[in-house]
Amino acid sequence: MDPAILHIQDEGRRFPPPEAFKAKARIKSLAEYHKLYEESIHAPEQFWARQAKELAWMRPWNSVFDWDKETCRFTWFRGGKLNVSSNCLDRHLETQGEKVAILWQGEREEDKRRLTYRELHDEVCRFANVLKKKGVQKGDRVCVYLPMIPEAVIAMLACTRIGAIHSVVFAGFSSAALKDRLDDSKAKVLITADGGRRSGKEFDLKGMADAALTDCQSVEQVIVVQHIKNNAAMKKGRDVYWHDEMRSTHGACPATEMDAEDPLFILYTSGTTGKPKGALHTTAGYLLYTYLTYRYIFDYSDKDIYWCTADVGWVTGHSYIVYGPLANGATVLMFEGVPTYPDNDRFWQIVENYKVSVLYTAPTALRALMRFGDGPVKKHDLSSLRLLGSVGEPINPEAWMWYHTVIGGGRCPIVDTWWQTETGGILISPLPGAMTLKPGCACRPFFGVRPVVYNEEGGLAQRNEGGYLAITHPWPGLMRTVWGNHDRYIETYWDKYKGEYSTGDAARVDENGDIWLMGRVDDVIKVSGHRLGTAEVESALVSHPSVAEAGVVGRPHPIKGQCLYAFVTLKHGIPISEQLKQELIQHVSTTMGPIAKPDFIQFAEGLPKTRSGKIMRRILKAIASGEADVGNTTTLADPSVVEELVKNRVA
Ligand code: WT7
Repeated sequence: MDPAILHIQDEGRRFPPPEAFKAKARIKSLAEYHKLYEESIHAPEQFWARQAKELAWMRPWNSVFDWDKETCRFTWFRGGKLNVSSNCLDRHLETQGEKVAILWQGEREEDKRRLTYRELHDEVCRFANVLKKKGVQKGDRVCVYLPMIPEAVIAMLACTRIGAIHSVVFAGFSSAALKDRLDDSKAKVLITADGGRRSGKEFDLKGMADAALTDCQSVEQVIVVQHIKNNAAMKKGRDVYWHDEMRSTHGACPATEMDAEDPLFILYTSGTTGKPKGALHTTAGYLLYTYLTYRYIFDYSDKDIYWCTADVGWVTGHSYIVYGPLANGATVLMFEGVPTYPDNDRFWQIVENYKVSVLYTAPTALRALMRFGDGPVKKHDLSSLRLLGSVGEPINPEAWMWYHTVIGGGRCPIVDTWWQTETGGILISPLPGAMTLKPGCACRPFFGVRPVVYNEEGGLAQRNEGGYLAITHPWPGLMRTVWGNHDRYIETYWDKYKGEYSTGDAARVDENGDIWLMGRVDDVIKVSGHRLGTAEVESALVSHPSVAEAGVVGRPHPIKGQCLYAFVTLKHGIPISEQLKQELIQHVSTTMGPIAKPDFIQFAEGLPKTRSGKIMRRILKAIASGEADVGNTTTLADPSVVEELVKNRVA
């Protein structure tokens, strides 16, 4: 077993659900969870059909679940017809049209907006008409490249209203990353903004978009939201302003009848090879899965003010800012800024001002805020909070305890939710009214999820033995394919354990049956909870004219969780210099985006390779992390390179 999969720490603290929480919870006991879980496993069709009846259908389905294991194709609710935007909006109009759907807080304190369900519905219908006028039809791809502003949600829902497939690209990605995604999805329309605000500075989003579009074949039209009003250059015949288009359109737009298995969106995610994969999610299964996980894991209550701090550009934003909460009719807070601007109490100030009751954030943000101590927290009244959530990477017990004690005042359960872009929604998490929490532990599988842990030999791992996590049966939210490349889907997820979904994560199950996640087993790195493929960063480095070869690995970082450490071999005759180092870091930032910047670059004469020429990242990782033992080097073509690498390690 890979040493990374050994578990060291024994966490003995236990936190049963507080009585007051339990009394009002949707699921109040472990027995209640068991009963539903057992049904979801032994009678899945009965379970999911009953849940699906909570959605609004235009036509009933013919068959709940079908699975062709050979081709790795499966369907949920085949033949059923529905529309996602009408489930998230129209369905609520009669009973709660005046309820606030979106509370928006800009980075500048004075920038605030609120949209009721009725207002959001009207905006979505109007923008859907704009898209139609631009020639967008069912099945066309629309790329959304926007900062955290309500127009992002409006654009996504407008796509679903007319059956267009959205592909949201995180606004922190640079033009080259945007261009790759536009080319792969062949998007017809790009929706962007003149710019955005981040940490008190403005960034030129339109400039990035323009650079991506210089030789892009597919995009015909660009719709630009005027957000920071920087007089961005507009290209005649291609670019139009959002507000101009909205002014000249009317409000009614019937929701298109979509098949349960029609594509809903593509979301690109990094894997072990250089090219990002377009995870394809479909209509009914995804909607139902996000609806139900939001309802039970966040214990949805009508009065909640729910705040998820993720960006809509990531899957967390898709599932738990947009689809899950809106399908439930929740009030969602959306924040444009960062945790530490203008001051390091910004998060807590927002919780107090908006009386946030449910907060869903990432370990990296908590670790960054913990550094400032309890002072900034104590300045604010956080008594509105009743439930806390964590996502993106394993949460270390210290951060968990701080979250629980200082932020939650000891009274709020924490749901440590494990899932992936591919899984559509949360797969493993505590149910807050039913389960006893252990700091750093994601607890139990959600309804319909069948996890299994395999050891190195492919047998079932023992209790407390770390191994590879797989899921043995599809659930409604699982991605259906990699956009345009079903073979890659099969290879990446279904080949390792035939007919089972392989997650790429390590895990162990403890003596109580609780599941602990132990990080990735492949070449995916989580930097501040963002997923980066080492191969992608390597190919960005190698695209620089001075670089011959690069090996990129993760190294533990106190706030980011992991950071990037790059080993770079220069082309013959290129001299090493500090200036070149800075240039390479900048080069990665402009090609991929600032999140992919390596924290460390080490120049190396040679990299550790197998005889077949494969870079052994395991060895690089041990060196980068300063481990005393770099492990077995006998399979290397030239074991002597290791010594030099260790000697020149950046401390
Ligand atoms: C990877 C997926 C899940 C939505 C945001 C990230 C890691 C995520 C946890 C958690 C331990 C976690 C896994 C997973 N991860 N949540 N609660 N505990 N690890 O989605 O970018 O697709 O990344 O994030 O390694 O495979 P993503």
